[in-house]
Amino acid sequence: MGNTSWVRGGPVDSPFALPTGLLGHLAGLFMLLTNRQAELLPCLGIRPGEQVLEVGYGPGGLLRLLGRTPAARVCGVDPSPEMRSQATRRAKEADLRVGTAEDTGFPGESFDCVVAVNNVALWPDLDAGLRELRRVTRPGGRVVIAWHGGASPSLIARHLLLSEDELDRIRRALEETFDEVERKELKSLTVFRARVIAHGDGPGVPRASG
Ligand SMILES: C[S@@+](CC[C@H](N)C(=O)[O-])C[C@H]1O[C@@H](n2cnc3c(N)ncnc32)[C@H](O)[C@@H]1O
Repeated sequence: MGNTSWVRGGPVDSPFALPTGLLGHLAGLFMLLTNRQAELLPCLGIRPGEQVLEVGYGPGGLLRLLGRTPAARVCGVDPSPEMRSQATRRAKEADLRVGTAEDTGFPGESFDCVVAVNNVALWPDLDAGLRELRRVTRPGGRVVIAWHGGASPSLIARHLLLSEDELDRIRRALEETFDEVERKELKSLTVFRARVIAHGDGPGVPRASG
């Protein structure tokens, strides 16, 4: 089954975009080996007792690392039941659900930190995804969106890089929805970090009149 992407403006027919069946299973194992994500942890800055959501967790490489942070609770959503079953083996304590960036299914203001790695370009609707991530982020919380790139992307990742126009589109959409957006280049990831200063007071939420 294909995945509709706002970058492509149509379906992406790849076992990496929405892993299913045997090919999806193998794609998950491949991603686990090749997508190294430890460098992202300092950007997340997880503090003791925090609630964390990973969107598009895939085979669970980052979830495994999140389980070693002082987070009180790690949750995740991914539309692929195959990825849920792989990730569950790597993150037994995590609350992993089938869901999407556009519809996580969690109550509003549930998380201190929301992170999405290597899936923002696969979402069908960038703005709808970011609005949902903001909805589930608590005031004072942060959202981290990362995609293949950085200072020294792997040979494989070089085929997956987003154009500067596409990265600008992500930055502008984040600025419309969150506060204090910054971009960083890690070794193999381009990362956007944004904050929610206070609900009802940010650029993405209209102020109450009167
Ligand atoms: C390329 S894999 C990346 C997996 C993992 N984050 C990593 O970096 O290894 C993309 C993942 O995004 C998931 N995905 C696809 N569409 C999504 C959406 N609309 N919302 C959230 N996740 C999505 C796929 O099921 C897949 O597990």
